[in-house]
Order: sequence, then C-alpha cells, then structure tokens
Amino acid sequence: MKNIQNIDIKNKKVLIRVDYNVPIERGVVKNNFRIIQSMKTIKYCLKQGASVILISHLGRPKNNSRDKLLSLRPVVAELSNLLNIDIKFSDSCISNKSIDTSNKLKKKDVHLLENLRFHAGEKNNCDNFSRLLSKHADIYVNDAFGTSHRAHASNVGVVKYMREASIGFLNMKELEYLSKKLSNPVRPYSFILGGVKVADKIKLIDNIKNNAEIIFIAGAMAFTFLRAKGFGIGNSYFERESLDIAKKIMNDTDKSGVELVLPIDAVVSRNINDVKNAIVKDIGLFDTTDCGFDIGPKTSSLFIDKLKESKTIVWNGPLGVAEKPTFAEGTNSVARFLNVLPNVSTIIGGGDTASCIYNILPKNNFSHISTGGGSSLELLSGNTLPAFEVLK
Ligand code: 3PG
Repeated sequence: MKNIQNIDIKNKKVLIRVDYNVPIERGVVKNNFRIIQSMKTIKYCLKQGASVILISHLGRPKNNSRDKLLSLRPVVAELSNLLNIDIKFSDSCISNKSIDTSNKLKKKDVHLLENLRFHAGEKNNCDNFSRLLSKHADIYVNDAFGTSHRAHASNVGVVKYMREASIGFLNMKELEYLSKKLSNPVRPYSFILGGVKVADKIKLIDNIKNNAEIIFIAGAMAFTFLRAKGFGIGNSYFERESLDIAKKIMNDTDKSGVELVLPIDAVVSRNINDVKNAIVKDIGLFDTTDCGFDIGPKTSSLFIDKLKESKTIVWNGPLGVAEKPTFAEGTNSVARFLNVLPNVSTIIGGGDTASCIYNILPKNNFSHISTGGGSSLELLSGNTLPAFEVLK
C-alpha cells in the first residue's frame, strides 16, 4: 500500500477522504480531535503546492435526507482557524458546480464538500457516485481511519477512478500502532478490555490471547466472566448466551499461561440513576439487588500494580459507566496512571475509550489514541479493513 510520501503530489489536486464525523452543537464543532489529526496530511499537501479537496460523512442522515444538523458547514470555521486560510465550501459533493470549483482551485486552496451521506450512492458504494467524486482531483488520499471498516464509495469505489491513490499520515500512524507494533510488541504486553458485550469482542479476545501476557477484563462484560466463574453478581448485567464462551476463554488462557485478571470489587447501586446510594462492595458479597457499574478501588490498585511491569499496553473499552462521574473513577484512575508511565507504549482504542480519555486528560502523553472505534476494533481483532485492501 502506498503512502502519501511515495507519490508525487506537487501542484496536483488531491482528494482527501477525512473522517470529520465530529460532535457539532448549534453550528459549532464541540470536539476537534479528528480534525486536528488530519492536519498533518493537509499541511503536507499545501506545502507541496497542491490544492486540497476534503470529503467526509457526518452522522447517519435518515434516508440520506439533507438534514441541516448534519451539514459539514460548521467545519469550515474550524479548518479556517487551524490552517489560517479561507476555506471554500460546496453544498453538494457531486454537483457540476462543486466539481467546477475544484477544477478551478489554485495552488494551496482548500475546498470542503458537503456531507457524503446526503447521497444514497455513498453507502451503496455506487459506481456512478464514485466516478463523480473522482472528478474533483487527480490524486486520492485516504486519511479517514474511523471509516476504514466501511466499504463505501468515498473510500472504496472511488479508488479505481483515480490516477494515484495512497493513505495519509493519520492512517500511517494508526497502522503503525494498531498493527505493526503489535505484531511484535515490546514485552510484557498487557491488554485492558472494557465495554459491555463479550459477544462483540470474541474475535478480539481470541486474537489477543495468542499474543498478550496479561488480559484485564472490566466494564459490564466482566460480570459475564464473574458469573461464569460461579460468583453471585446480584442484578448486574450479564450475557447468558456468552457464559460458555467466557468459560472457554478462561480455560484457554489458563492452559496457555496468559494471566486473565478480573475485578475483585465494584461500585454498585440498585440502578444506573441511583448514584446517591452507590457503594463499593467486594465481588462475592453482592446483594440480589446490587448492580455493578464500575470497578472498585481495590481492582484499580490491582490493575495498576500489575500494569507497572508492562512495556506495551493496549486499552479498548471503558472500565465502568464513565459518562456518570460516580461510575467513572475506575476508568479515570487507570487513565491517569497510564498517562505518566515512562518508556511504555500506551495505545488507546477509538470511540468511547478515546472520548473518556479526552474528557479527563485533554492534553496527555499516550503514545497513540486511535481516531476510530470500529476500525481499531477490527484491526486489533486481526481483521483487514476494506478501505486499505482496495489500496493494495
Ligand atoms: C465513527 O464515528 O465511528 C466513524 O465515523 C464511522 O461512522 P459510522 O459508524 O456512522 O459509519
């Protein structure tokens, strides 16, 4: 797969697929992490005298309707601010007018196109839609890691119509940390796994149990494992249908010498809104009405103690219901600890895990925080991504 440094973009028109699926409220971008992460590629192109056409989706417009709330127009101000230039915007990504604007761009101009998903052709990977997108430029660069697990027109179909195609710097970094470094990790290698469903992460667990030395399990999914081990978990959420899988995973790790660490205490209450009565209880001492919503302080200390030896740490999934401060301390304490670890590769999956980290540590020292939840899960599970396959 070519990267942007292997192709000649000097004075060319470059169509960059970015992932600007960012939170926007009342016309203002609320979190510009993904936009900032795309800057390296854009600035590199501009420095080479190229003009840049940016394409992205935003949200999931119902029936591809032009929902004003899902317009990319608010991103113009953000880009203008970050690049310190005026940004051109077209309210359709395939109209003759927008293609004409792209064709007339001067050196170092930037043209942002409206939400790709305002057209059915994007998600259907429609051939004609792909062809129209390709008319904006000579060269295609994919820097939309967050969308790379989708096979859509803007990241798969368009490629065959472009003279040259490659990945950009953001995708290079994502691949470096989520794939290359982990194929031969500096050891010991630990994996922290949170989130809700075991069923969603079976392939991931299968993949990491052949590679990591320690796997920490927290979040709601820990209760499926604890229940499979025979603990009373009160009224905590668990997946009955995944109990056998959890047992098999514990047997397999036991046999292969991989250490699987489960919570030893938890923050419980009767329901998720009953934060006033939340208390810490040891695993095994739950009442029938107790629901666990976070790991407890003994578990945080246990995790932290064991993580001290690791040289590579990957984290996918919050350790509790981190959007509620009462149930966020487990996630926060582990994040704060990892953030100050010297000489350790700390790799954070995208999606919810990344949002939690940015909430408490907007400026941080992690080696890599992925911009894609679904895509990072696929790569960590050992799967390929359609948007990369088409570039090979
Ligand atoms: C994301 O935010 O995860 C990506 O932009 C992909 O969005 P999608 O799940 O709507 O395809």
